[in-house]
Amino acid sequence: MKAAFIKQTGPPEVIVYGDLPDPKPGRKQCLVKVGAVDVNPIDVYIRRGSIPAKLSFPFILGRDLAGTVLEAGAGVKSFKPGDRVWATSQGTDGRPGTFAELAAVHERWLNPTPTGLGDEAMVALSLVCVTAHIGLVHYANLKAGEVLFVNGGTGGVGSSVVQMAKILGARVVTTGGTDEKVSACRQLGADLALNYNTQNVDAAIKGFAPEGVNVWWETLREPNFERTIPLLALRGRMIVMAGREARPTFPVGPFYVKDCSVQGFAMFNASSREQRSAANAINRWIAEGKLKARVDRVLSLSQAAEAHRLQEESTMGRSGALAGKIVLKP
Ligand SMILES: NC(=O)c1ccc[n+]([C@@H]2O[C@H](COP(=O)([O-])OP(=O)(O)OC[C@H]3O[C@@H](n4cnc5c(N)ncnc54)[C@H](OP(=O)(O)O)[C@@H]3O)[C@@H](O)[C@H]2O)c1
Repeated sequence: MKAAFIKQTGPPEVIVYGDLPDPKPGRKQCLVKVGAVDVNPIDVYIRRGSIPAKLSFPFILGRDLAGTVLEAGAGVKSFKPGDRVWATSQGTDGRPGTFAELAAVHERWLNPTPTGLGDEAMVALSLVCVTAHIGLVHYANLKAGEVLFVNGGTGGVGSSVVQMAKILGARVVTTGGTDEKVSACRQLGADLALNYNTQNVDAAIKGFAPEGVNVWWETLREPNFERTIPLLALRGRMIVMAGREARPTFPVGPFYVKDCSVQGFAMFNASSREQRSAANAINRWIAEGKLKARVDRVLSLSQAAEAHRLQEESTMGRSGALAGKIVLKP
């Protein structure tokens, strides 16, 4: 099969697009013909070697896939050849990545793809929506009527958080770096969308939510607690989930006197059972037409290095070049 893999960590040029042996599905695995994969910032960190990861080379990149079951192992109960499926959380804990024409995936990680949704849209919703669901439902315990703020409402995670928070009944404030992105945020359902380059975001948040923000979801890699804690409501919750190198100062006084809490999490720590519960809700909301993918562009898997360069410039370099997911087609 063709795959995009690395033999060593380094810049995007270390990505090889070439031939690897076809995987053989185990008893509880399905062999999936991959229809589409996408790029997540974590793929970039792994390829760069900037986070600790046990990699056995050649290492196939990629966390997510959407495709069709070609073959089901003898012990597989839930899927059969021809079923359309999606998965996230591959390419970690010894599981091979997804950037290939074929992938052998344990059925515990597979979810059915809702009827009518293409592989490109499905894969673009996978990791980011599982992340949003775990954060909003499990950690932030977001309630209907509460105010949620998230930076980057057209980003991978941000666009999922905006849509899901609306589904959960929250009033949503978000930002974008251009007027075009701001209007895309409104189309995703945001009640208030602000241009963080041209508007006074903090003043607008205070005007929208005089009692403060109940849930502040920070997507930025340098959280600024000096700024955000004064904007939190009594018993406000803050989600932090990015920025491994971040070492911001933390104003304890203004935080504890409002009974606030801060919760960090990484979606890859969630078990397959926990992720399945998120996936079930995601599938239901897709089927109901409530959750839409934001695909910035579709490239060929052979352009994996270019896709990585673009993702790195956008997420880490804050180039603003992307307004959604990069999807790759094997
Ligand atoms: N902990 C977890 O489980 C988990 C899961 C997924 C991702 N992550 C992490 O979460 C972060 C975001 O991931 P992603 O996939 O959403 O990345 P992304 O698609 O690149 O989104 C980044 C967002 O940040 C916004 N942004 C950049 N500079 C900003 C600024 N100064 N003010 C306000 N917004 C700004 C961008 O908005 P514009 O485009 O409008 O500039 C963009 O929407 C990454 O660091 C990733 O590693 C963590």
